[in-house]
Amino acid sequence: MKRIGVLTSGGDAPGMNAAVRAVVRKAIYEGLEVVGIFHGYQGLIDGKMEVLDLGSVGDIIQRGGTKLFSARCPEFRTEEGQQKAIEQLKAHGIDGLVVIGGDGSYRGSMKLTESGFPCVGIPGTIDNDIPGTDYTLGFDTALNTVIESIDKIRDTATSHERTFIVEVMGRDAGDLALWAGLAGGAETIIIPEVEINMDEIVERLKSGSERGKKHSIIIVAEGVMSGAEFASKLKDLADIETRVSVLGHIQRGGSPTGRDRVLASLFGAKAVEVLIAGNGGRAIGIQNHQVVDYDMNEAFDNHEEFDMSMYQLSKELSI
Ligand code: F6P
Repeated sequence: MKRIGVLTSGGDAPGMNAAVRAVVRKAIYEGLEVVGIFHGYQGLIDGKMEVLDLGSVGDIIQRGGTKLFSARCPEFRTEEGQQKAIEQLKAHGIDGLVVIGGDGSYRGSMKLTESGFPCVGIPGTIDNDIPGTDYTLGFDTALNTVIESIDKIRDTATSHERTFIVEVMGRDAGDLALWAGLAGGAETIIIPEVEINMDEIVERLKSGSERGKKHSIIIVAEGVMSGAEFASKLKDLADIETRVSVLGHIQRGGSPTGRDRVLASLFGAKAVEVLIAGNGGRAIGIQNHQVVDYDMNEAFDNHEEFDMSMYQLSKELSI
């Protein structure tokens, strides 16, 4: 292994830059050359890449977004697209690839590995929805962004004695909603993993207000329904007036937290070590405080049982 590539793909996440920096610096430390591929798989197909030196990744550890840009690339899903990508990798003398992204990015990298080109995945998504790792890059930063927003919304909710619905990201996963709801003291948390029970929610809101509770915060993960949709359900069912805040892409931006920067550094270095050892089709992660690499196919196994204990606790603490 003499020259490796690195790209970021899919929805960006705070900490991606710190991971790129770690890949570049660790690889150079180990005597390799690194090529940065721009705009994810689309840039790979189009040959948009350049050699990254030590200085090129200076001053980015603290920056949100990704210096390499990101994209979702339908062309790469086709066999033709994948062949073009492999030709580009060969033409540029690249022997291994680090892909930083979420589920879709991992699936793309697995295709390359299956075609004989070794790839290693670093989990980068605010959704925290990659099986096999306790945390993904960006989750902690997004979590803190959501908590900060909830705290601010709570101020105005208290002043006006209102019920607020806060819609957070998470198409298929409720981690962000659940953790932020627990940390922000939300009264109700609605996530894709738990079936919604409108009667119970209305009952909790009503009994809270009978006990003198003046305001309430409801967190809705976008994968279940939009905040607006939920507001109209509450209005129709129980004539409850609400205000809705959609946090949107604010959740994907911002300077990465210390935890995300450290994780990014550990993950980036580990990815380089795995490639140097000649292994492809591996995913990097953290399990019980240990940085690990594991068969990427395990990251596609969505049958992990949802741990209800945290959800249950959020209910117990917000009566
Ligand atoms: O995958 C991360 C994520 O932030 C999801 O939570 C969200 O549904 C999606 O990306 C939004 O993607 P886009 O920026 O392409 O609209």
